[in-house]
Amino acid sequence: MSAPFEKQFDTPVNRHGTQSTKWLKFPPDVLPMWVADMDFAAPGFILDALRERLDHPVLGYTDRPASLNEALRDWLAHHFGWEVPDAWIVWVPGVVPALNLAARCVDPGDNLLIPTPVYHPFLDLAANAGIRDVRVPMRLDHDVWQMDMDAMSAASDTHTRMLMICNPQNPTGRAYDAEELAALARFVEANDLLLVSDEIHCNIVLDPASRHIPVAAAHPEIARRTISLYAATKVYNIPGISCAAAVIPDPGLRRRFLDARAGLMPGIGPLGFIASEAAFKDRGPWVGELVDYLRGNLALLAAALGPRLTPLQATYLAWIDVRDLELEHTEPYFVQHGLGISPGEQFGTPGYIRLNFACPRSVLADGIERLNSAIEARLNALHG
Ligand SMILES: Cc1ncc(COP(=O)(O)O)c(C=O)c1O
Repeated sequence: MSAPFEKQFDTPVNRHGTQSTKWLKFPPDVLPMWVADMDFAAPGFILDALRERLDHPVLGYTDRPASLNEALRDWLAHHFGWEVPDAWIVWVPGVVPALNLAARCVDPGDNLLIPTPVYHPFLDLAANAGIRDVRVPMRLDHDVWQMDMDAMSAASDTHTRMLMICNPQNPTGRAYDAEELAALARFVEANDLLLVSDEIHCNIVLDPASRHIPVAAAHPEIARRTISLYAATKVYNIPGISCAAAVIPDPGLRRRFLDARAGLMPGIGPLGFIASEAAFKDRGPWVGELVDYLRGNLALLAAALGPRLTPLQATYLAWIDVRDLELEHTEPYFVQHGLGISPGEQFGTPGYIRLNFACPRSVLADGIERLNSAIEARLNALHG
């Protein structure tokens, strides 16, 4: 790792005064390791692009630059070998809004299939759209969380219209392999489903033996059934800029998605366009060095937690087994011990917690200490 970026990742950034959602949620003595927002400065080339735009004093309503589509298309081709025509791309002010629009492509009376645990806004999609969801627990097989095709088959009915997944998976950190995605594609086709694949974490693959595979690229036979979602916001740590893209090959499905959006969503602001374009054009070392740094953090966490930590391939979110602590509510317990985590029940799976380890090592060391002392205190209280 070259020195400048490692130093950048190692240096705590004081976020006080920025109204940071992450840092305002808990009292100041609680270390926040919850929401997927990294405590690292965004790369200089994105900040420079924003500064350059701010040299012009008017931040008016802004049309999407054609060069943004080009940047996304080149990025998808460069990283994943996926050639996407311009017409397939729809921009939205966030992946969560896009998930909600996708759910509105399902007719009233039909339902959504959702493997759990899953990033918690998935669990609100059906209610928001006035339809039903069918939640199917993933299978934990030798420490590997997998979509359970048999259980999904059994849970589906004639009204099941859409399967919604995220890959890489939040919160389990799975990057689904070619075989799993092939099984998924067969399942989608056999059951005549639409598939929504939230791939926002696609550039944060930590396991050198894994890679991200966009399902619609690997399986052109189901591409017309898919909505794939991307954003530069996770990997470049610019989640506050609100800009994301949906790739929707089928014109009819794209029309429904656009109709669902009409009049409800704000346009994307000029800063969202500028930052996203700078990010999608990046081919420099920043992401690789971020991934290296996160690998180092993950190794520390794995050494400290042992088998509690689900081995993960992607994301900077650790999925930690605390079932033996027998806590009805994990969040208040860990907060009492100075640590702000995301409780497993939020993702549909109690007995686990999710911890964001994208922070400087010194902060991580503090977090690990708080986590371990909380665990130890509870085990002592339970077993003496
Ligand atoms: C899987 C997943 N999808 C979507 C989002 C949020 O996307 P956005 O901020 O673009 O709505 C997150 C943020 O944590 C996420 O982990």
